[in-house]
Amino acid sequence: MGNLLIINAHIFTPQGHAARRGAEMNELLEIPSGYIEITDGVITAVGQGTYEHKATYTLVDAEGKVVLPGFVDSHTHLVFGGYRPDEFIWRMNGDSYMSIMERGGGIYSTVRATREASFDELKAKAEWFIDAMSRMGVTTVEGKSGYGLDCFTELKQLEVMRAINEEATRKVDIATTYLGAHAVAPEFKENPEGYIDFMIEKMLPLIGLRGLAENCDVFCEKGVFTVEQSKRLLEVAQDMGFGIKLHADEIVSFGGAELAAKLHARSADHLLHASDEGIKQMAEAGVVATLLPLTAFTLREPYARGRYMIDQGCAVALATDLNPGSCCSGSIPLLFAVACLYMHLSVEEAITALTLNGAASLGKADTIGSIEVGKLGDLVMLDCDTPNVLPYYTGMNSVQQTIKRGRVLQS
Ligand code: NIG
Ligand code: FE
Repeated sequence: MGNLLIINAHIFTPQGHAARRGAEMNELLEIPSGYIEITDGVITAVGQGTYEHKATYTLVDAEGKVVLPGFVDSHTHLVFGGYRPDEFIWRMNGDSYMSIMERGGGIYSTVRATREASFDELKAKAEWFIDAMSRMGVTTVEGKSGYGLDCFTELKQLEVMRAINEEATRKVDIATTYLGAHAVAPEFKENPEGYIDFMIEKMLPLIGLRGLAENCDVFCEKGVFTVEQSKRLLEVAQDMGFGIKLHADEIVSFGGAELAAKLHARSADHLLHASDEGIKQMAEAGVVATLLPLTAFTLREPYARGRYMIDQGCAVALATDLNPGSCCSGSIPLLFAVACLYMHLSVEEAITALTLNGAASLGKADTIGSIEVGKLGDLVMLDCDTPNVLPYYTGMNSVQQTIKRGRVLQS
């Protein structure tokens, strides 16, 4: 298991152990007729030409195929109860995302459903999404809590992710994020500062002790958590050793990008309304700008300024934001198409955004995100000789095989 030799591959990969910024995002290493050896799930050789095939290694001939690093979907909410198709229709008819939430729907609707759902129901549903994502080339996915807001349900969500991560034959690794600050818990409706205290005093220490989350995230937005409240929570989380991330400037321009830069967060995500100054500060601080164009697409909002951010020297990542409300899609093909067509990223930039920069936004650029010796044997093989099919097959899957830790998952 996990011993594999790929030959005759047309390899494209970003390189390095950190996010690629600005013009660097366009620089992919290209190896025609390449080989990749994976031993016990880890890449042990990469090069051009022929390579000795050891008898115990599975051989894959990739003649005529592109091989890329496995895709890293670095922002999702994939563990949740219930669905909200009714809200989708309300929005089609002119309702706004925030007004539905203010009426007790939106995130609160999923909180009720997730509190009611059993561990097994949540796990089975997350695995359904994981199967679909794996077929589209995803080998690492980030998963957030944030649909419990109480202690029991937040832990239940994180424990579902842990259970999946402990399975030897899992199709993806899940990077775990505590998003208790997704909305003010109903129990603290009149006392948001008390809810921040609860997260700081009870939830973060408990989650830290049990090792249930790598990152801490907050929905820093008008009507949800203020910049000051977000700062108070994130500073404690950072001191406790969590990586920090923000849902920032999604609905209005709110100073989230500036806060992310100030705190040297791993990423600030969404950024539809990030200011010029916030973008500049993020570029200087090396904060990954994680863009989620399928959410803008679904909410019928203008896209984040991906081209401008890269031109300003930012490291941009792309992710789906899969969730039951603002974007019930984990479609990597659609993500490529929208990023290239409407955010004006080149195919090379989009590949870097969905591999190495996604990995960096999770603090994992040392182990995933590129095809290099020492990194995990997580790969995608496309059913074509050019990576341009990624946006060109608009909304259609060009992935022939996904390889997770050296295991071939499908063909
Ligand atoms: O990233 N904006 C906040 N959180 C999610 C949506 C969650 C939901 O609507 O259930 C997002 O868009
Ligand atoms: Fe999100």
